[in-house]
Amino acid sequence: MSRLHVVSGKGGTGKTTVAAALALALAAEGKRALLVEVEGRQGIAQLFETEALPYEERKIAVAPGGGEVYALAIDAERALLDYLHMFYKLGSAGRALKKLGAIDFATTIAPGLRDVLLTGKACEAVRRKDRTGRFTYDYVVMDAPPTGRLTRFLNVNDEVAGLARIGPIHNQAQAVMRVLKSPETAVHFVTLLEEMPVQETADGIAELRAAGLPVGGVVINMVRPEILDEAAVEAAANGRRTDVVHALAHALERTTPGGARRTGLAEQLVDPLLEQAREHTERLALEHQERAEVARFGLPTYELRLLGDGVDLAGLYRMARELRKQFSERSEQGVSA
Ligand SMILES: Nc1ncnc2c1ncn2[C@@H]1O[C@H](COP(=O)(O)OP(=O)(O)O)[C@@H](O)[C@H]1O
Ligand SMILES: [Mg+2]
Repeated sequence: MSRLHVVSGKGGTGKTTVAAALALALAAEGKRALLVEVEGRQGIAQLFETEALPYEERKIAVAPGGGEVYALAIDAERALLDYLHMFYKLGSAGRALKKLGAIDFATTIAPGLRDVLLTGKACEAVRRKDRTGRFTYDYVVMDAPPTGRLTRFLNVNDEVAGLARIGPIHNQAQAVMRVLKSPETAVHFVTLLEEMPVQETADGIAELRAAGLPVGGVVINMVRPEILDEAAVEAAANGRRTDVVHALAHALERTTPGGARRTGLAEQLVDPLLEQAREHTERLALEHQERAEVARFGLPTYELRLLGDGVDLAGLYRMARELRKQFSERSEQGVSA
């Protein structure tokens, strides 16, 4: 089972939300997970309804069964100081650099460097051990950049290792790539049952494979409930209007006080309702098509329902439960996640 879980996908599909739910799910039953936010927009703090995250690992939630979720919002400037400190013991020189504005230069002018720092920090957390030799975190979950920027982001240390051919920077870059390209890492995609995000997922999978990075699973998010059963879908598609008016009038008679036959009201309601049913069935057909597309990727696939009122803390725990249930179903079938 992988220990570094990278969560990507098209923007707005729910990467941050799914990464948080995954961290909760993995931490369950006494495990410890670190949730890392690399885009620094405090989405995780908002989700867990806590104050803005500082650049330090902080416990933000208790998982079902007593596990712990820690979170870290990586600040590129601070990560650069860490980085300098690590190699050159430049603690005070680092602060002097900061005064000179060198860090602004490094973090804004050289976007690649920012990615080096972010991936380096996440891999450091994956490898970190406590005094007894046990991993500090059983799992690290990374709320990663969207699909379009993902491969470049994960591969940036390859470029660095090529540039700095020897020395500590070369070694550090290689160590990071070793983690990212190993089975210890799994890169997951969040998608919706819509054409664009599914297409982006297909492109993302192909890019990762070409780069030799490990593809994990697909999480289909915001799955709509199927409110009509097969017979109703069939009726909505092919039903005769008079039959529908009849059925509707009958239903109104049963459910309204007085119980008079409400044929007039049924007449008024029938066309908008038929229109809605038609839209719904069209949407279902599209979703089935996209689901088949996702199945063709041949990857472990998980589904999370659309939560009607958005995702609050309770909703997040519900999503974590859904994921756990699907993990255990997979392992019962003898397939590893
Ligand atoms: N399963 C879901 N049901 C309902 N709303 C969701 C679900 N997943 C995510 N959302 C909402 O969708 C929006 C985008 O989610 P977010 O995780 O921020 O996406 P991303 O990180 O990919 O930009 C947020 O408002 C979030 O609460
Ligand atoms: Mg996000």
